[in-house]
Amino acid sequence: MKIAFVGKGGSGKTTLSALFIRHLAAAGRPVLAVDADINQHLGPALGLTDDQSAALPSLGAHLPGIKEYLRGGNPLIRSAEEMIKTTPPGRGSRLLRIVEKNPVYAACARPIALDEGSVRLLATGAFTEEDLGVACYHSKVGAVELLLNHLVDGRDEYVVTDMTAGSDSFASGLFTRFDLTFLVAEPTRKGISVYRQYRDYAQDFGVRLRVVGNKVQSQDDLDFLRREVGEDLLTAFGHSDWVRRLEQGAQPPLRALEAANRAVLDELRTAADAAYDLRDPRRYTEQAVHFHLRNAESWANAKVGIDLATQVDPDFVLGDEPAAAGAAV
Ligand SMILES: Nc1ncnc2c1ncn2[C@@H]1O[C@H](COP(=O)(O)OP(=O)(O)O)[C@@H](O)[C@H]1O
Ligand SMILES: [Mg+2]
Repeated sequence: MKIAFVGKGGSGKTTLSALFIRHLAAAGRPVLAVDADINQHLGPALGLTDDQSAALPSLGAHLPGIKEYLRGGNPLIRSAEEMIKTTPPGRGSRLLRIVEKNPVYAACARPIALDEGSVRLLATGAFTEEDLGVACYHSKVGAVELLLNHLVDGRDEYVVTDMTAGSDSFASGLFTRFDLTFLVAEPTRKGISVYRQYRDYAQDFGVRLRVVGNKVQSQDDLDFLRREVGEDLLTAFGHSDWVRRLEQGAQPPLRALEAANRAVLDELRTAADAAYDLRDPRRYTEQAVHFHLRNAESWANAKVGIDLATQVDPDFVLGDEPAAAGAAV
């Protein structure tokens, strides 16, 4: 399963991503956590110290090596230099699985031991002023797009991505790479406006989007969300003293989370699991190709100096078979 958390800054994306990740890990599910937000906070939210978090390797810095590995023996991609963030896999490409050892994880993923279970974390790396609004910013997020386009994931294993919301997400195809996107929204007009914008983009690409209310304090809050979001509202996480204690530097165990909020995490998992049966590998691959061709025409052909449409392997479909038997943990 490929799951994203998006929403306005401060809505609780990182908080809910981290809790969902811990909830899955506690159930023994393999989880790859991905921090793709402009503000890199997922590491600390999963219990890393600021120093440990700052020392995380960044996907952005390892992009050339990642491309070289994924390219494998694909005859349509002549070199890593000719590979851009949207270059789709084809025959001969190396695919990633959630549970395996590979040079990409060795270089970029860091294991995190949780109070219940463990996960591996990948981070895009901090964004600098210069990154924002220009191509470099997208190349950092682009590393995630590249990985997801080469990832074969089965039922009961998860990639959970803490993303940013806003127009930057739509400059690339990243927002279409998930089985389910949770849009975290506070019960306020601003929280809802981000939902509307996201929904309108998402609709054109058949992106499955569910709203998760957050910091909901009353029936009025819930009614507000229901009225504004309608059927897209999946559930709502309450204002949480447990989260507040975490924010104050305590490390409360997951089992001490309020029962109602724990139940919300269960609802998220049920929704995520239900999305598995709706996935369409052919469409997933076609969309990867769509965004690749768009990038090729708008900037990449000129930058790389070749026609990048020639990288598309028309008969290739990214499989959705479970992780290969015998893959090392
Ligand atoms: N349900 C909640 N109850 C109490 N505080 C919350 C809750 N969700 C988020 N917060 C607090 O709100 C702030 C923003 O949350 P965060 O997850 O960092 O948002 P985002 O990642 O969307 O920017 C943090 O201080 C966090 O502790
Ligand atoms: Mg955040």
